[in-house]
Amino acid sequence: MRGDPDRLRLPYFPDHAALFVEARALPLSCAVAISPRNSVDDQGTIVAIERTLSIIKPDATERNIVGLIIVRLESAGLQVIAQKRVRWKKKDAKKFYDVHKGQPFYKDLVNFMTSGPIVLQVLEGENAILRNREVMGATNPVDALPGTIRKDFGVNLQRNSVHGSDSEKTAKREIALCFKKSEIVG
Ligand code: CDP
Ligand code: MG
Repeated sequence: MRGDPDRLRLPYFPDHAALFVEARALPLSCAVAISPRNSVDDQGTIVAIERTLSIIKPDATERNIVGLIIVRLESAGLQVIAQKRVRWKKKDAKKFYDVHKGQPFYKDLVNFMTSGPIVLQVLEGENAILRNREVMGATNPVDALPGTIRKDFGVNLQRNSVHGSDSEKTAKREIALCFKKSEIVG
């Protein structure tokens, strides 16, 4: 549930769809749901509205399948609220993948991520971090479930078409690294 944070449609009265209450009259547990960062599902459970960083990698931009990938993300209920096509310099890729420094694949990964244009996106939606990871599929396309982006478009373990943040902390860091606040336009 999003929109006007002061007016809330009560999920507990499905037969009274037009019933609204003043937010300030609600107990704390309900007030949590009012936050524009939360939503309420059909069972009345509060669901987190999250943001996550998505990257469409050089193997995908090279094959002109950016649109096909975005269709998968949008179809999963993820909304693109910021987007830009860039070509990373080595320093950008090194900083972004700093967590993998020392791994045997780090240098090749940096070379790959700077080998062509990439599309950076902030995605927003209910449980966006996990949902994006589910739509992406396992890191290695051969292990990914049928219907996932990596299964259907990934070339190999390295050239696996997409990146997605793996936790709330990582999402915050990655979004801040890739976008200015003013570039996140909703
Ligand atoms: O991207 P994801 O979070 O699923 O996997 P990761 O373990 O964080 O690795 C980051 C990226 O490094 C992967 O998406 C692959 O592109 C690459 N990688 C690789 O080339 N070789 C590996 N053994 C592991 C990862
Ligand atoms: Mg990762």
